[in-house]
This record gives sequence, C-alpha cells and structure tokens, in this order.
Amino acid sequence: MAVLEILKFPDSRLRRKCTPVEKVTDDLVRLADDMLETMYAAHGLGLSAIQVNHFVRLLTADTRALQSNESERYESTEMGQYEKEIIQPVVLFNPEIISKSGEIIFKEGCLSFPSYYADVKRSAVIEVQGMDKSGKVVTIKTDGVLAVCIQHEIDHLDGKLFIDHLSPVKADLLRAQIKKYGYPDSGRQEEML
Ligand code: NI
Repeated sequence: MAVLEILKFPDSRLRRKCTPVEKVTDDLVRLADDMLETMYAAHGLGLSAIQVNHFVRLLTADTRALQSNESERYESTEMGQYEKEIIQPVVLFNPEIISKSGEIIFKEGCLSFPSYYADVKRSAVIEVQGMDKSGKVVTIKTDGVLAVCIQHEIDHLDGKLFIDHLSPVKADLLRAQIKKYGYPDSGRQEEML
C-alpha cells in the first residue's frame, strides 16, 4: 500500500467528471487500499479517487474516528442509528444515491482544502448503491456523518466541491482566504472529507 498525493483546490483536475468502473480489477482494489491508507494518514473521514488523480468513480469512507474524537466542533459525536450498524471502512465503486430524506447541516472540511471548514446542508438519511471490493452490488442505508461524507465524496466524482454549496459571498471569502494564507504544512487538523 502507499500514501498518495492529494490534489488541492484550485487544481483544475478536481473539476473533472469521473467515469464508472466496468469491473473491479486487481488494480482498482489496490487503488482503493492506497486511498484508505492515504485517507487515514491525512486524518480524513472520506476520500474520492479524483482527489488522488484517478478519474474513476470510487470512494472510501470511515467515520469511526469521530467517536473517540475530542473535537468541540460537534455537539455530539454519537453515531447515527443506521451509521453504527455499518461495517466500516466503506469502499464503493460507482456509488449512486437511490433515496434520500431529511436535512442535516454539518461543518464540512475537505482533504483538498486542508484546515478550511464551512457549514453545508445535505440529506440526513441516504441509501446508496455501488460495488464493493469484490465486485458485489451492495446497498447501504446510513445517516450521521457517514451520510454527509458519502454525499460529499459523490460530489467530488462529479467535479463538484463543497464550496459550490455555499452562498457566493461565503465561497468568495473562502477562496480569498485560501489565496492569501494558502494551506498550512502541519499543525492540528480536524476531520476532513
Ligand atoms: Ni472532500
């Protein structure tokens, strides 16, 4: 396994649209394993293939770290009622949301915008279908941060970023801050998607 380089905003490659996987090959399983290692190394909760310069529809997620986190950004670090039943990490090829309901506002970060955060509104409960590492079609129903995370990663696969959900004023402010301050090389970073 290997830790891969993560593309950072405003890299134009993050705006590409990823193509579906026809078959889960050994190479793609290796990519998924590398993405998991990269995600854990960066203290991320989720990662999409596009962020590591592979333009295929693949995401990884693992929200279990939040439970033991001392972050004060969250009122509760309890897992969602569906979320806690799910075997993590989640690896999904060709993820597609087949149903969604409710609303949740969560302060999102992104490994392609390290150390920047903003409130984003998403669906609270989703059902997502895709293929696992063995190529089997699986359906996952989740809520909690995992639901947020999966929606965030699917956006990535369509070339969409979390700032696209912000008002133009807030998005401009964030872009201006990134231009002025850039991304810190180190320091404490909280959970990013
Ligand atoms: Ni992200």
